[in-house]
Amino acid sequence: MPKTLRPDTLCVHAGAYVDEKVGGVNTPIYASSSFMDPNPQGGQVHYPRYSDIPTQAACADKIAALEDPSGRAKGWVTASGMAAVSAPLLALLAPGDHAVFQADLYGGTHHFVHAELRRLGVELTMVPETDPEAIAAAVTDATRVVYLESPTNPTLRVIDLAATARAVRKRNPDAALVIDNTFATPMNQRPLALGFHVVVHSGTKYLGGHSDLSCGAVVALPRFFERIRDTAVSLGATLNVLDCYLLERSMKTLHLRMARHNANAQAAAEFLERHPGVSLVNYPGLPGHHGHRKARNQMAGYGGIVSFEVPGGKDAAEALMARLRLVVPAVSLGGVESLICLPARTSHAKMPPEERAAIGVTDGLLRLSCGVEDPADIVADLQRALEG
Ligand SMILES: Cc1ncc(COP(=O)(O)O)c(C=O)c1O
Repeated sequence: MPKTLRPDTLCVHAGAYVDEKVGGVNTPIYASSSFMDPNPQGGQVHYPRYSDIPTQAACADKIAALEDPSGRAKGWVTASGMAAVSAPLLALLAPGDHAVFQADLYGGTHHFVHAELRRLGVELTMVPETDPEAIAAAVTDATRVVYLESPTNPTLRVIDLAATARAVRKRNPDAALVIDNTFATPMNQRPLALGFHVVVHSGTKYLGGHSDLSCGAVVALPRFFERIRDTAVSLGATLNVLDCYLLERSMKTLHLRMARHNANAQAAAEFLERHPGVSLVNYPGLPGHHGHRKARNQMAGYGGIVSFEVPGGKDAAEALMARLRLVVPAVSLGGVESLICLPARTSHAKMPPEERAAIGVTDGLLRLSCGVEDPADIVADLQRALEG
């Protein structure tokens, strides 16, 4: 295979493992939890928890190549997004260390940080601002991790990643810059090229993309990768080979799906912004969105998620959801079908109500995950529900 390939080609080919004895063009599923010792081909003896079976390695290599086409970073696939979020944090933080988090995190990450890291004696600073200097101002000599999301779930706030990485490095060059890139995916945003060290994903969303898979991924520069891998092996949340096969297959079409998710969300956001029955729309692809300029500079597309409000709060939002005929009221996001939910009672249910309110997750905020259907059908369904 040529050494320098473009991202769309990497989706299809990167990582793929060819069993030359058989000659199949797809990575084989090595469904074995026991492998010969010594390895008849020489080299290491395989074991699934070490995620070193070719079916697992193919998946990890593909996501690593997508996040870092320069080939420096290494990948690791996990049994869920939360395994991908928690492994680096547990690997890089020890009692007495300090970590900086953005205040509006995905609800599950917010819960993990407060329930587990606090208990382990990690000192936390939660930063409500998206300004790079405000984030860097929270960094001390004891800071080991700065952890961000951009765009955020579900309010789609955008952080200038390169400026933040520069400002944090100036204050403390030893701090690891970690980002959850679930919403953007590497097709829209590559944080390692902007100065970050570690990228995590809920693969349950766009990487899997068909609402039939629970998985996650970590991609890290060599400086941090070994420590994260050691912890991930001990935690044991590796992805089984059958699901690795599905994940690798899904990632082969990530570029095609993301282009359509981006276009559909743009169409839905523009329609919602124009509609008199909608009181607020969050989408970084709208020129009036507060993060539009930053997103345009650092993203190739604005993603598939739009959040919005209708007058009348939670009751009106629930009534609207009930009137939809195509868009499915359901938890999660990133699948080929359009989904809608109320984050206050799903992804952010565990966050205390006053913190939810402070980050803009009102009880009536709707999160629309635009699938890959014809955009006119998504818009028609929204119109029917708004006017019905
Ligand atoms: C941004 C983000 N990160 C991480 C996660 C956790 O992923 P999982 O549910 O696969 O553990 C989610 C889940 O919704 C998410 O939206």
